[in-house]
Amino acid sequence: MRKPIIAGNWKMNKMNSEAVQFIKELKPLLPEDDSVEKVICPPFTALAPVIEECRGTDIKVGAQNVHWEESGAFTGEVSPQMLKDMGVTYCIIGHSERRAMFGDTDETVNKKAKALLAAGLIPIICVGESLEQKEAGNTFKVCESQVQKALEGIEPRDAGNIVIAYEPIWAIGTGKTASSEDAQEVIAHIRKTLARVLNEEVAGKIRIQYGGSVKPENIASFMEKEDIDGALVGGASLKSQSFSEIIKY
Ligand code: PGA
Repeated sequence: MRKPIIAGNWKMNKMNSEAVQFIKELKPLLPEDDSVEKVICPPFTALAPVIEECRGTDIKVGAQNVHWEESGAFTGEVSPQMLKDMGVTYCIIGHSERRAMFGDTDETVNKKAKALLAAGLIPIICVGESLEQKEAGNTFKVCESQVQKALEGIEPRDAGNIVIAYEPIWAIGTGKTASSEDAQEVIAHIRKTLARVLNEEVAGKIRIQYGGSVKPENIASFMEKEDIDGALVGGASLKSQSFSEIIKY
């Protein structure tokens, strides 16, 4: 059984005081049991206060990006070891905004994935097609290639706890979502790719999220699908009320 994982991607939002306030509000709204894994990914600046405020809870904290080297002359970058040292558990890599605006490529996503695993952190690897690619009928091909390249050189024994987020680019922040049937179909194809690149057993363990305009109103329709194991949530993760409703789908 794969444990569902709901992760909030705050992107470039929230001052530290707002971040701490959010966690304070969220805690009493969470379900008592731990049947869903909860992850908050604040900007780098708010990692420390959010980790502090989450102490004693089962909320895990993730970063939104990382560099693949351990240390050195990389002005402005942060290493996996630095994240690990401060108590970070997850790290989003290859988000379409980073691929589109900050030069992330399949190759750097692969380097980041390997570096995170080596440091004992869990990558949340984002893949997904653009509207143009969708309309050209290339959704499967694009996702398959992104997954395969992200995992190049990663041993199956190291890959079991990786998370993949399928985020169609045209659904991010637009209010448009993939239908849960379409998302299931793409995600099932991603799982098939994982089985081919790694092996069947590991592919059955890897959690695959859907992302793109997930809200309290539509989360259940995704979560009832066989291969969808959670959600990566942007806009609706910024308010404690809506994020907690998504967790309690
Ligand atoms: P959204 O963002 O939920 O605001 O569409 C999702 C994401 O970019 O991870």
